[in-house]
Amino acid sequence: MSYENEIKRRKSFAIISHPDAGKTTLTEKFLLFGGAIQTAGAVKSNKIKKGATSDFMEIERQRGISVATSVMTFEYKDYLINLLDTPGHKDFAEDTYRTLTAVDSVVLVVDSVNGVEEQTRRLTEVCRMRDTPVIVFINKLDRDGKNRFDLMEEIEKELNITLHPMTIPINSGKDFKGVYNLDKKNLVLFTPNTKADDESSRIEITDLSDPVVNAKLGDKDAEILREDVELIGGVYGDLDVDDYLKGKVAPLFFGSAVNNFGVKEMLDSFIAIAPTPLPRETTARVIEPNAAKFSGFIFKIHANLDPKHRDRIAFLRVCSGKFERNKYYHHVRLNKDVRFSNPYSFMARSKDVIEDAYSGDVVGLFDTGNFKIGDTLTEGEDFYFTGIPSFSPEIFKEIVNKDPMKTKQMDKGISQLTDEGVAQLFTQYGGTKKIIGCVGELQFEVIQYRLLQEYGASVEFRALPFYKACWLTSKDNKKLEDFLRFKQQNSAEDKDGNPVYLAQSEWFLNTEITNNPEIEFHFTSEIH
Ligand code: G4P
Repeated sequence: MSYENEIKRRKSFAIISHPDAGKTTLTEKFLLFGGAIQTAGAVKSNKIKKGATSDFMEIERQRGISVATSVMTFEYKDYLINLLDTPGHKDFAEDTYRTLTAVDSVVLVVDSVNGVEEQTRRLTEVCRMRDTPVIVFINKLDRDGKNRFDLMEEIEKELNITLHPMTIPINSGKDFKGVYNLDKKNLVLFTPNTKADDESSRIEITDLSDPVVNAKLGDKDAEILREDVELIGGVYGDLDVDDYLKGKVAPLFFGSAVNNFGVKEMLDSFIAIAPTPLPRETTARVIEPNAAKFSGFIFKIHANLDPKHRDRIAFLRVCSGKFERNKYYHHVRLNKDVRFSNPYSFMARSKDVIEDAYSGDVVGLFDTGNFKIGDTLTEGEDFYFTGIPSFSPEIFKEIVNKDPMKTKQMDKGISQLTDEGVAQLFTQYGGTKKIIGCVGELQFEVIQYRLLQEYGASVEFRALPFYKACWLTSKDNKKLEDFLRFKQQNSAEDKDGNPVYLAQSEWFLNTEITNNPEIEFHFTSEIH
C-alpha cells in the first residue's frame, strides 16, 4: 500500500465519558466489530470489568476504575483504527487530557438516564479548547431514560456544543423499539443481544409512509417517528462534515452498548467522517502527517503492564513519516540517538512487535528510563510537539518513608511514577522535603500501592495545607531568588528544577501576585 494510503486509512480516537456511562462496554463492541475479540457472548461471560481487554492494572480490577489509558488497534472495513481508552474517574483526568493530545477525534458517551454529568462537562471542555471533532453516543436506551429532545437540549446547553442527530430513537426502556438512521434512511429494530454481524434487524425504508413502518412499530410509534423525522429534518438538514471536522457540530447517535445496538450505525459513520491523522504544531513549525521524515511524541508512560515483568512502556504517537523498527531516531531532550528493537502495536494485553508505523499510530516503546511525557523523537531535527499540558495539582502531601532501608527504591519509584505523569513531584526549596501534588485523592492511593507492589517501598502521606502550585518566571532573576528565599515555606522546585510557589489559599496567592508584579505566576505549565 502506498505511503499516502497508509495514512488515509488511519483513524485515531479516544472514547470519553463520565464513569459508568458505558465506555468500556462500547469499546468492547468496537473490538467485536473489528474482529479483535471473539463473540459478544464470550465477552459477556468474561465479565468485562474483571479482566477487561482494556484494563491493564491490578488496581483497576480491585477498584473497578479504569486507571490506565489503554490503546487498542483494530481493522474495520479497510480502515485501521487506533482506539485510546481513557480513565473516566476524575482523579485521573490528567491522564485523559494528555491522551486527548494524541488523538484526532473523540467519541463521547452519555448515559440516557443520567444525562450530562460532571466528567462529561470537564472532558468536553478540553475537547472544545482544542477544537477536537466529537461524536456523541447516547447510551442505555434500553432503560427508561430522559426524553430524547430534553436530552439533546441538555447536552447542547450544558456542554455548549451543537448536535446533529444522525439517528433517532423510538421510545426507551421496555418500550424501546429501535433507531431510525436519518442519514441512511433505514430503520433498525431492537432485539436485545443482537449479534455484531446481524443484518436481519435492519429494514431499508425509502418512504417513511410505507405501511411496513406501522407493521413493525405499531401505529402510534410509527406516527411519532414520522413527526420526529420531519421535525429534525426541518431543523438540522444534512450534516456538514466540515463543521464536524472543525469541532463546531457533533453528530449524535442513540443506542445501547450492552445490547450492541446502534453501535454499528455509529462506527460506520465514524469511518466515513472521522478525521485521518491531523497536522501537529511544534516549536519549529506545523508538521504535516504525510511529511517525509518521521516524528512523534510520548504522551504516556506506563510501568508493569505485565506484573511478572518490570517493563516500562512509553506510548509514542507517530505524527509524520514512517517509524521503523531498529532504525536510529533523535531523542530531542537527551540529544542522543535511540533505536527500538521491539516496538509494539497494542491489542490491550497482547502486544505485537511491529516493523513499521505511520502517522496516527500509537507505538509502545520499551523504556529503560529514557522517556518523560512530552518527549519528542525525530530523524535529527530539534523541535518539540507543543500543547501537551501539565496541570496545577490541587492536593499536596508530603511523602514519608516508612522503611529507611528502602530509601533508594522509594526514590527510584517516585522518580519513575512522576515521569509517567501519575503525579507531580516538588522538592522543598533549600530543603529535602518531597511533596507530591495530584489532582485527585485516588492518585495518592495508586502511588502508595504501586510503590509497595513494584518497588517494595512503604510510604505514608502527610497532608499539606496548599491549594495550588504556580510555576514562577521572571525577567529579574534576583527578584525571583529573593522571593523564593523569603517565602521558603511556600517555595519548591519541580522535577526539572523550575521554581514553584505553593499557595495556601486564593487570598495568599492573589496577594503575592499583586505584591510581586515582576514575577509571573503560571497555573498550567505546558510541557513544551
Ligand atoms: P464505563 O466504562 O463508562 O465506566 O462503563 P461500563 O462500560 O463499565 O458500564 C457501566 C455499567 O453500565 C455496566 O454495568 C454496563 O453493563 C452497563 N451498561 C453499559 N451499556 C449499557 C446499556 O446500553 N444498557 C444498560 N442497561 N446498561 C449498560 P455494571 O452493572 O456496572 O457492570 P456489569 O456487572 O454489567 O459488568
